[in-house]
Amino acid sequence: MAETMKGLKRTHRCSEVTAKNIGETVTLMGWVQKSRNKGGIIFVDLRDRSGIMQIIFEQSDSKEERFIDAEGFAKAEKLRSEFVIAVTGKVEERAGGENSSLKTGNLEVRALSIRVLSESETPPFPIEADSKTKEELRLKYRYLDLRRPDIQHNLIFRSNVTKSIRNFLCDEGFLEIETPILNRSTPEGARDYLVPSRVHPGTFYALPQSPQLFKQLLMCSGYDRYFQIAKCFRDEDLRADRQPEFTQIDMELSFVDVDDVIDVNERLIQKVFKDNLGVDVSLPMQRMTWQEAMDRFGSDKPDVRFGMELVNVSEQVKNAEFVVFKNALENGGSVRGINAKGQAEMPRKKIDALVEYAKGFGAKGLAYLAILPDGSYKSSFAKFMTEEELKALIDAMAGEPGDLLFFAADKNKVVWDVLGNLRLEIARNLDILKKDDYRFLWVTEFPLLEWDEEEKRFVAMHHPFTMPMEEDLPLLDTDPGKVRAKAYDCVLNGIELGGGSVRIYQSDVQEKMFAQLGIGKEEAYEKFGFLLTAFRYGVPPHAGLAFGLDRLVMLMVQADNIREVIAFPKVKDASCLMSEAPNVVDVKQLEELEIQIAVKEKNEADE
Ligand code: AMO
Ligand code: AMP
Repeated sequence: MAETMKGLKRTHRCSEVTAKNIGETVTLMGWVQKSRNKGGIIFVDLRDRSGIMQIIFEQSDSKEERFIDAEGFAKAEKLRSEFVIAVTGKVEERAGGENSSLKTGNLEVRALSIRVLSESETPPFPIEADSKTKEELRLKYRYLDLRRPDIQHNLIFRSNVTKSIRNFLCDEGFLEIETPILNRSTPEGARDYLVPSRVHPGTFYALPQSPQLFKQLLMCSGYDRYFQIAKCFRDEDLRADRQPEFTQIDMELSFVDVDDVIDVNERLIQKVFKDNLGVDVSLPMQRMTWQEAMDRFGSDKPDVRFGMELVNVSEQVKNAEFVVFKNALENGGSVRGINAKGQAEMPRKKIDALVEYAKGFGAKGLAYLAILPDGSYKSSFAKFMTEEELKALIDAMAGEPGDLLFFAADKNKVVWDVLGNLRLEIARNLDILKKDDYRFLWVTEFPLLEWDEEEKRFVAMHHPFTMPMEEDLPLLDTDPGKVRAKAYDCVLNGIELGGGSVRIYQSDVQEKMFAQLGIGKEEAYEKFGFLLTAFRYGVPPHAGLAFGLDRLVMLMVQADNIREVIAFPKVKDASCLMSEAPNVVDVKQLEELEIQIAVKEKNEADE
């Protein structure tokens, strides 16, 4: 029978009890981690979110204040893992030697009384750190998984990070303002989650992909510095650093330019790392233009913890007879390489695996050249080149005996993608990436527009409200693909932590931008009329940025997946294994919404 809290108050969490409390009577409440009955004496590890305290139950008829009565002892004998108990007892120095793995390892509490607040069935997996339990099972019973100390650490850490962020931004004069969840579509390039309206049958709200339009409106309204810890929703394919609903640290500032936004955000990151990890981030952070990032690292989110940079060798191979190189150059592409220093002895099998890996990023092949210690070569293409051409190529790559060179030849976009990913794969294989080596980087001057091969039109690289760089404005009419934007991303160890831009606030520039995106004036007003109209009543120059909070915390706690820092995450197919969302709804609900389901039952459709 479950006992109640009546008259009982918790005095401490388990790990809040310290040597200072020795001799005091405390009341602790929590879950039984484990219980060992040594006959006449029972040891229980009591767990709460702070940690573990060892409790001792010893029975004696003596009235001495060290023992528990027969009734209490009988209750202790029945304890099993995950029972919830309250224990009142005396804090003592641990008799049986210190347990250095626990914060309270030099202490124990001698129980004087116990209440069993609730019992537990045997949990489907042990509640312990570094669980080997399959993730599916953990997620089905997430409420149990969340009891595990490592996940608790992550969520407590996340809460503290959020607190640092709020403190910093409030001190910097930002106002925390909420924006609506039931919206019209905000263009961030992903698919919307839609919510049908009951009152207006046949119409839908879109859940926000970001608060973008609203935060710009807040600038029009004079709030000047806004932030929000904002829930965002994007119906896109999930990856290790992507969830369908996630949280942004979202902000917008008036009367600022690129450097102002970067400055305040660098200091924000510096504070968050100092407060929560004791890590000093030195400022200013490294900056690199998008073009430089692509040329040197083949990526707009370069991992700068290591070198192995890309080298453009188009010039060195332009006269070579190797058709692969020739074709790429003739088609307006390039030939670039990376130097895996000291890897010349890499076994053929591993090289083949890298070639296959490269193909996954669109490579038609991957040419390689190993410079053996004796100066001879092992190569897939050396036979197609003269000795002089090879020498020029190796010189350009700073190749030395012992090195392994890889080359990709194709359109620039493919070459960058292939080599950018290959250099990461080689670094991972060599295990040279340290998770506690935090290398921040701002990538700036992104292209404003990106050519969409499928749709045969330009799409916005960031979003349609991003300002072109002043010096590139004339190109917007003549060579739009060349226009650089006042957009910036904050990158940490190869992951995009956040991104933002200075916004367009002049209607003529905005119209030109829409025109390039194939959005006519009418359509623009139909979709974003409220913003465009707001701009007619006095709009301050403004700019902003959003960090992914989940990604930030994931990198700080050195987790491999964003799910480890989200209390109730979704799995790859965007479902929740615990609640089984998404799910069917009542026919009555559909009728109210005047919605008919056209999806056939799966079995029916298969037949
Ligand atoms: P952006 O689309 O770059 O910019 O998003 C900002 C940051 O949000 C995080 N993020 C995600 N995190 C987890 N799961 C996802 N599916 C996901 N998608 C994005 C990333 C990313 O850098 N409104 C603009 C910001 C602005 O211009 O001010 C925006 O949303 O860390
Ligand atoms: P092949 O003559 O087709 O066997 O190609 C010779 C070498 O060039 C092989 O190692 C291929 O993997 C490589 N190769 C093929 N296509 C490309 C490409 N686009 N870029 C770099 N190397 C390639």
